[in-house]
Amino acid sequence: MAVTIKTPEEIDHMREAGRLAAEVLEMIGPHVLPGISTGELDRLCHDYIVNVQKVIPAPLNYNGFPKSICTSVNHVICHGIPDDTAILKKGDIINIDITVIKDDYHGDTSKMFLVGDVAPHASKLVRVTQECLYKAIDIVKPGITLGDIGHIIQIHAEANRYSVVREYCGHGIGKIFHEEPQVLHYGQPNTGLTIEEGMTFTIEPMINAGTRHTKLSRRDGWTVTTRDRRLSAQWEHTLAVTSDGCEVLTKRQEEQF
Ligand code: MF3
Ligand code: CO
Ligand code: CO
Repeated sequence: MAVTIKTPEEIDHMREAGRLAAEVLEMIGPHVLPGISTGELDRLCHDYIVNVQKVIPAPLNYNGFPKSICTSVNHVICHGIPDDTAILKKGDIINIDITVIKDDYHGDTSKMFLVGDVAPHASKLVRVTQECLYKAIDIVKPGITLGDIGHIIQIHAEANRYSVVREYCGHGIGKIFHEEPQVLHYGQPNTGLTIEEGMTFTIEPMINAGTRHTKLSRRDGWTVTTRDRRLSAQWEHTLAVTSDGCEVLTKRQEEQF
């Protein structure tokens, strides 16, 4: 399957799915406090998605994933599995990644939360990673390339002496959760696919405080951690390319685009 161009009607559906995913992050924020378990965060999100929004949590049973959201704490890069025995403590940083399916279309977004007071080196990693995402979103318009997106993220991360994870990337999205193209978070200007109006894809940089190297858990087959056990952060939005820029389909109220 090649890269698909969505019709305005399809983008209307994507906008709805994106809004719902963003609203789950807004709902869960006040619950992310010292003492709560990631399993409880999953239950709160699952119940909200299923019973209030009346849509589908895409991760649940996706390639066998056992829960409705991903919760990735500290040195976990992505795909952390919520767990009733994993209790958040002051100083943790956590990514919560939400994907919902509404009328067959996906909305996929994640953000970092600080648990109580966090060390300055940790909050800086979280801030710079968000800046990486925002700088990339800023340049998205027809005519730029996927390499331009990867490059601007890599430059900002490495200017801060961080590293970019290579094994996981953003992705096209629509009726299919992960479709073409792959959106790498590193690369060279003017290389790769040229962006066109009507494309919908995620940008979701994973930035490590130490080396870029990753390790996949042999225990659960999902949890991805930094090899050096140093911190990692990630932020994600789903975008639709417009005639002169892009629309952030998963924008939260706190954000200005
Ligand atoms: N939401 C993740 C992404 O950004 C994918 C999670 S797949 C799961 O692409 F199976 F781990 F849930
Ligand atoms: Co994604
Ligand atoms: Co996601």
